[in-house]
Amino acid sequence: MKNSPNNPKEVAGRQAARLVKDNMVIGLGTGSTTAYAIKEMGRLVAEGLHILGVPTSYQSAFLATENGIPLTTLDEHPVLDIDIDGADQVANFVAIKGGGAAHTREKIVAMSAKKFVVVADESKMSNALSHVVPLEVIPFARKLVEKEVAQLGGKTEVRMGISKDGPVISDNGNFILDADFGEIHDPASLDVAISQCTGIVEHGIFMNLDVVYIGKKDGTVEIFEKS
Ligand code: A5P
Repeated sequence: MKNSPNNPKEVAGRQAARLVKDNMVIGLGTGSTTAYAIKEMGRLVAEGLHILGVPTSYQSAFLATENGIPLTTLDEHPVLDIDIDGADQVANFVAIKGGGAAHTREKIVAMSAKKFVVVADESKMSNALSHVVPLEVIPFARKLVEKEVAQLGGKTEVRMGISKDGPVISDNGNFILDADFGEIHDPASLDVAISQCTGIVEHGIFMNLDVVYIGKKDGTVEIFEKS
């Protein structure tokens, strides 16, 4: 399907937004690609579509409100119909997320959804995962986490703020450590191993992708569905 304009993030985000149907409760991801999906959903709401959104960050909450999408919570709607979110890298239906430090809420929302749809431009597709894995870390546990992750073969760096001195603080009040594991040959095992580290609230490996929308420079969108 041809789209215009040819911004790969925009075509992927806007096309995925069309999965949203009347009366659905939607997970609203974070980042620049999902922002296009949220804007498209806002346009559909203005045309009469009835949906509720659960935001994964302050960013998506602000954007949804600006675009007229009514918000709800997981307390009120613990099961979501669909979640649409971006990714930093995708390989074989596994994604690394958290480039915007929102992966903890993003994972909670993704795990609460019947269908998890990732939207990305073609630069995010890869044969193997090698992107740094963002870790949300309780500040008190930083040194312990550095040691635990080193034992798993990862090299960590505390993410520093831009237009803010000192470390990035997540929406949940924690630090973000970016862990470099080189090429990740067995993401499922790494997922389990990192989850067992004390002091890590959540990490950015997402194993539960159902559908991937990849936007391309020529204006087309390639859709991959897990069988
Ligand atoms: C937010 O923490 C991230 O998981 C984003 O969803 C991810 O970084 C993708 O962002 P872009 O769509 O801006 O590339």
